[in-house]
Amino acid sequence: MEKNFKRTLITTALPYANGPVHIGHLAGVYVPADIYARYLRLRGREVLMVGGSDEHGVPITIRARKEGITPQNVVDRYHAIIRDSFRELGISFDVYSRTTSPTHAETASEFFEHIDRKGGFIKKKSMQLYDEGAGRFVTDRNVVGECPVCHAQGAYGDQCEKCGSSLNALDLINPRCAETGNVPVLRETEHWYLPLDRWQADLEKWILEGHKEWKTNVYGQCKSWLDLGLQPRAVTRDLDWGIPVPAADAEGKVLYVWFDAPIGYISNTKELLPDTWERWWKDPETRVINFIGKDNIVFHCIIFPAMLMSYGDGFQLPDNVPAMEFLNLEGDKISTSRNWAVWLHEYLRDFPGKQDVLRYVLTANAPEAKDNDFTWADFQTRNNSELVAILGNFVNRVLVLTHKYFGGTVPAAEMNEADRDALAEVARLRTQLEEALETFHFREALKLAMDMARTGNRYLQETEPWKVAKTDMDRTAAILYTALQITASLAVAFEPFLPFMSERLTRILGIEKPEWDSIGSADAVPAGRTIGQPELMFEKIEDDVIQGQLDRLARIKEENKRAAWKPEPQMPDVDFDTFCKMDLRVATVTECVKVPKADKLLRFTLDDGTGTPRTIVSGIAAHYQPEELVGKQVVFIANLPPRKLRGIESQGMILSAQNADGSLTVIAPSAPATPGASVK
Ligand code: 2FM
Ligand code: ZN
Repeated sequence: MEKNFKRTLITTALPYANGPVHIGHLAGVYVPADIYARYLRLRGREVLMVGGSDEHGVPITIRARKEGITPQNVVDRYHAIIRDSFRELGISFDVYSRTTSPTHAETASEFFEHIDRKGGFIKKKSMQLYDEGAGRFVTDRNVVGECPVCHAQGAYGDQCEKCGSSLNALDLINPRCAETGNVPVLRETEHWYLPLDRWQADLEKWILEGHKEWKTNVYGQCKSWLDLGLQPRAVTRDLDWGIPVPAADAEGKVLYVWFDAPIGYISNTKELLPDTWERWWKDPETRVINFIGKDNIVFHCIIFPAMLMSYGDGFQLPDNVPAMEFLNLEGDKISTSRNWAVWLHEYLRDFPGKQDVLRYVLTANAPEAKDNDFTWADFQTRNNSELVAILGNFVNRVLVLTHKYFGGTVPAAEMNEADRDALAEVARLRTQLEEALETFHFREALKLAMDMARTGNRYLQETEPWKVAKTDMDRTAAILYTALQITASLAVAFEPFLPFMSERLTRILGIEKPEWDSIGSADAVPAGRTIGQPELMFEKIEDDVIQGQLDRLARIKEENKRAAWKPEPQMPDVDFDTFCKMDLRVATVTECVKVPKADKLLRFTLDDGTGTPRTIVSGIAAHYQPEELVGKQVVFIANLPPRKLRGIESQGMILSAQNADGSLTVIAPSAPATPGASVK
C-alpha cells in the first residue's frame, strides 16, 4: 500500500568486516533492499540507500590476534572486499561507508554524550570475568566451560550449543578463556546501561498498536520481548577496540558494538549529505525502512528505537523492518567459521558476467516467510529453465525477428485486439507487481515479472510471426511492433531484479531513461527507431560447472569433519593383570582376498610363526585392496575365541587405527619383526 511520504530512507544491516559477505547476507538483506531502492527510483521517488561495514566487535579482535595483525588491518581487508563485491553485484548504495570513519566516531560519541546529559543512562557495578594473564576482561563469547544446565563441556559464556540454553558467563563451571586457556578471576567493573524498561510503554504503543502490519516474524519477536518485560542493557564494554566511551571514569571502556553500529546508518547519511542529512532522519515525511536478517530484529525494533527515543530531537523511528528468515546452503546452516557458504567475491570470480543469475536465484528463493535452502541444482535449473528458456528466449526471438524482417528498424504498425490484449495483460501484471513490491513480497514480485515474459512467449506462440511473414508483412509488422513493446516493458520491469540485463536491453532498444509507467505502454519503442544487434541475455550453465561447485563444498565438508575430530574419551582403567591376559602378536600376511558377497570383509591367511596358517576375517575391505597387504606385517590378538563370519572361522582380530575421516590404518611394526613375536 502506497503511503503518503515524501521520501524513503532505506538502511541495510551493516555487515561485520570480519569476513566477506555470502549468499545468506545477500538474500536476507542486500538483494531485497536493492530491488526496493531501484523500484522506488524507477517510480521517480526520492530514495536514499545507506550501507556500510560494521567494524567493531569482539570477533574482529579475535581474528586480529589469531593472525598477529591489528583489528584495523582486519577491517581494512574485509571492508574493501565487501564494498567492491557489492558494487560488482550492482547493489546500488548511495553511500557505503564504515564504522571506523571519523564521521562515525564523532556521531556515535555525540549520540552517547547527548543521551548521557539528558540522564538517559544508568550506571551499574557488576562482577565480570577477568583474564589476569592477558590483562583484560573476557567477553561472554570468549569464555568456555561446563554448561551449568546440561553439563556438556565447551559451552560458551553466553550460550551452550549443546542444549541451547542462554547462559550467564558467571554460571559456567570451570570457566577458561577460550583464547589463552587461562582461568579467569572475578573483577568488579562499572558500565552504562540503557534502561529499556523506561521505554516499555512507548515501545508497546508504537509496535503492538501502531505496527500490526509488520511481518508476522518481526511483530511476534517484538511481542515476546515486550511480554517478558524489558530490562536495562549495558551499552559499554571493557575492550580496547571500539569507540572510546566519551565520559569521565571510562578509561579502557568502549561503546558496545550494538550501540554504535545502528548509529552508523546516521553517520553514513551524514557523510554523504553533511548539510541535508537531517531531512532524512528528522522529517516526519521521511519513511525509514530497515532491511535486516531475523537475528537483528530486537536491535532494530526495540534497542535502536529506544536509543532514538532517548536522544529525542525528532529522530524518526523505522516505519517498517522487513526482516528475512535465514538461507541455508545445501541443507546446512551457512557458517562463516565453518566456511560453509557461497562467498560473493568468489561467485563473481567463478561466474563472471552472471551477477543477474545470482540476484534472480536469491530472490526466487528468498527466505521471506521461513528459512529456505540454496542448492546448486536449483541455481542451474532456474538459470536454464527460467532465465534462458523463458525470458532470454522471448527477448532473443523478438530482436532476431526484427532484424530478419525489418532490418532492425521498429516497423510502423496497425495493432489489432490481440495485440492490445497482450499489452493490457502486461499492464495488469504491472499493477500486481507494484502491490507486491510495495509490501516487500519480493518472490511474488519476481514471479509476476516472469509472468510478463511468459505473456510475451504466449503471444508469439499464438501469433506466429515467422509463419505470417510468408504471406502478410503488415501483420508481421504489427506483431513485432507489439512484441518489441513487451520487450521494452520487460527491460523496465526487471530493472530492480536484473539490472545488468535491463541495462543491455534498454541500450539495444534505445531507451534512454527507463520509466516505470512505461510498462504495458504501446509506444515505449517508437516506429522508425533502429535497434541494436541482438545479444543473448543469458547462457545455459553446464553440468560440469555445477559439479565444480559441489566438489568444492564436499571438500569443505571433509575439512570441517577433520577439524572437528577429537580423540575418543579415554576408557575406564583396566588392571595390569587383565591387560597381560591379551595375547598380542605380529604376523606376516601370506594371502588376502575379498570375502564373496561381503562388502566390508577381507580374509587373511597369516604366518604367525607356528607353522600352521592362521585365518582371520577383518572388516577393512573398504580401506585396502587385498593385494596391497600381502607380504605386509600386522598386529593381531591371538587369544580371542574363534568366531564364524560368513561361514569362515576367524581366529583372532587384526588391529587397526580409526582416523578422523573414518578410514582405517592397519597397525604394523615399524621394522620387520619375527612372525609370532609377542607384543609387549
Ligand atoms: O549481525 C550483523 O551482522 C551486524 N553487524 C549487523 C549490524 S546492523 C546495524 F545495526 F548496524
Ligand atoms: Zn548445556
